[in-house]
Amino acid sequence: MSRRRILVTSALPNANGAIHLGHLLEHVQTDIWARFQRMRGHECIYVCADDTHGTATMLKAEQEKTTPEALIEAIRVDHARDFAGFGISHDNYYSTHSDENRHYSELIFNRLQAAGYIFTRQVDQLFDPERKLFLADRYVKGNCPKCKTPDQYGDNCESCGATYDAMELTSPRSLISGATPVVRASDHYFFDLPQFEAPLRAWLAAGGAQPEVANKLAEWLDGGLRAWDISRDAPYFGFQIPGTTDKYFYVWMDAPIGYMASFANYISTQANGLDFDDFWSADSTCEVHHFIGKDIVNFHALFWPAVLEGAQFRKPTRVHTHGFITVDGTKMSKSRGTFINASTYLEHLDPEYLRYYFATKLNGTVDDIDISLDDFVARVNSDLVGKVVNIASRCAGFINKQFDGKLTDKLIEDDLWQQASAASDELAQHFEAGDVARAIRRIMELADQANQYIAHKEPWARIKDPALRDEVHGVCSLGINLFRLLVIYLKPVVPSLATDSEQFLNVDSLAWEDAQQPLLGHQVNKFKPLFQRMDRKVLDKLIEASAEEAGSVAEPAAAGATDSKNSKSKQATQDDGYIHIDDFNKVQLKVAKIVAASNVEGADKLLQLTLDVGGETRQVFSGIKAAYQAEDLVGRLTVVVANLAPRKMKFGVSEGMVLAAGPGGDELFLLSPDSGAQAGMDVR
Ligand code: 2FM
Ligand code: ZN
Repeated sequence: MSRRRILVTSALPNANGAIHLGHLLEHVQTDIWARFQRMRGHECIYVCADDTHGTATMLKAEQEKTTPEALIEAIRVDHARDFAGFGISHDNYYSTHSDENRHYSELIFNRLQAAGYIFTRQVDQLFDPERKLFLADRYVKGNCPKCKTPDQYGDNCESCGATYDAMELTSPRSLISGATPVVRASDHYFFDLPQFEAPLRAWLAAGGAQPEVANKLAEWLDGGLRAWDISRDAPYFGFQIPGTTDKYFYVWMDAPIGYMASFANYISTQANGLDFDDFWSADSTCEVHHFIGKDIVNFHALFWPAVLEGAQFRKPTRVHTHGFITVDGTKMSKSRGTFINASTYLEHLDPEYLRYYFATKLNGTVDDIDISLDDFVARVNSDLVGKVVNIASRCAGFINKQFDGKLTDKLIEDDLWQQASAASDELAQHFEAGDVARAIRRIMELADQANQYIAHKEPWARIKDPALRDEVHGVCSLGINLFRLLVIYLKPVVPSLATDSEQFLNVDSLAWEDAQQPLLGHQVNKFKPLFQRMDRKVLDKLIEASAEEAGSVAEPAAAGATDSKNSKSKQATQDDGYIHIDDFNKVQLKVAKIVAASNVEGADKLLQLTLDVGGETRQVFSGIKAAYQAEDLVGRLTVVVANLAPRKMKFGVSEGMVLAAGPGGDELFLLSPDSGAQAGMDVR
């Protein structure tokens, strides 16, 4: 097998908020694939970066009284740290706001222009006369032109589903200044995508995307391609278009060029002997693989290959597309605590639990991936602890204590070994195809066989009979060898478990081909527990912490990159730190009477309150125990958020939230209306 030269990327996270489960799914998927390729002996370079440009970055920097550069660098450092915490083996984590990206963006644009793929056309757009900037759809709201529902964004109506142009909204207002926008014309630069229909069809036919994605793209191609607007007017945080003074590249133009730029930066800073052209020239024999979510397929499988073709660069070998993530069957939710940030996760749980669980779900299709919390705990404990590590812990004690840590010179039960060793080809095919879930199922079958064998041979019983000592030595040596095979196969998924196992096995870094040879007559090290069971209580704490974080911290503002309607950041509510009066009006505040209050067993901070909200009774869990004795609260009036979606907490369902002032702990002051107010009254 010749050594492949591969460059892989994950989609560039927006520089507008923390890394969360959605990003992790994609980076774990990419990382498993990259680590697998490296174990196979291929050269595999994995680069990524933050996606930094756009109006929102500019606005957020203004709001935070800093520069866009300082803002995005701080976020980049956080992102790189979070990914490292999950063992994501990026070779470089860079930024789209870089000299290299400017260079390649300009180069590509100049080549496209010289080749006749760029033209300008006048475009009418809503303009904020106060802030003096053109408004992207998400910065305008107004009444739906079809059903008249107020408060709809500039592209589609959440009420009737209509899609329209922002200029069709009635009573529009700028979400940036509140001003009434005006229609203004300006010249935009367009990339002439329709000229690339034939090369795009050829690229898809050559396997550029998974079949289901290719079918979807073929439908778009059949429907006819349209030119792509690649410019935005000043003011904009990004790169100025060559030959202009007030036009910038649209963030989605320079974002994928960020893959090239991160690679170029890796070459120039690492003295690794790599050559840019080897990977990116039109006749490159290296491979380029992009891993992305299904919301950004058009950018990666239409615009990007066409831009590369037009600028005389190579096209991606393959775009690998995954589906969205759900938790217990629904979208990640801040109030339910299932919108989990990477850093919060790392404070509570081992990252390899999540890497493993994702692996059991990643099947190489665009189907959505559901994280079931119960299943998460069950799979990790039953597979990794109960099946894999169990083999080593059952056998290692005997090898260490009875046989001086030495494995036998010859394998007994050669069949079992041969079968597990021979699975390596089939497993490699599954990893290569991205069907990690299938690989995991097969690996767990092998683990089951190994465990059944050991259970059948009962070394713990046989060791008592001196005549069976050699047999026990053989059984346990085979057990350790089967464990080693499983570790080889699982290494791309749980690299840290693999490193600890290598230490125990007293071997160098395991490669895929090591599955062909058993360890014979080999000295292993003292066995230390390799993996902790996952504790459901700690997972519950993580969920609670995520819900609390969402409650106490403002949602990340919509800085950074894309105007993509479904980009990962859209899984969070977007705002610029302010909410509009209409948003505030959605919050129903009511006077509530506390009719009962009690401590909650097992909860240090919570009181359980029964509230009378005007004839209706609610149960609310409130974190005010440090400041109040339960009995002192009974009979008192306070203010409750009455239309908060019920939240399932560890101790029961909380049906609202009472309001208190103060920093927290014992310094909390429950809000109360003046005398005369009555339970059930609206608070406005
Ligand atoms: O959807 C997103 O989050 C984008 N920031 C992805 C960009 S990927 C590439 F094109 F840069
Ligand atoms: Zn409507």
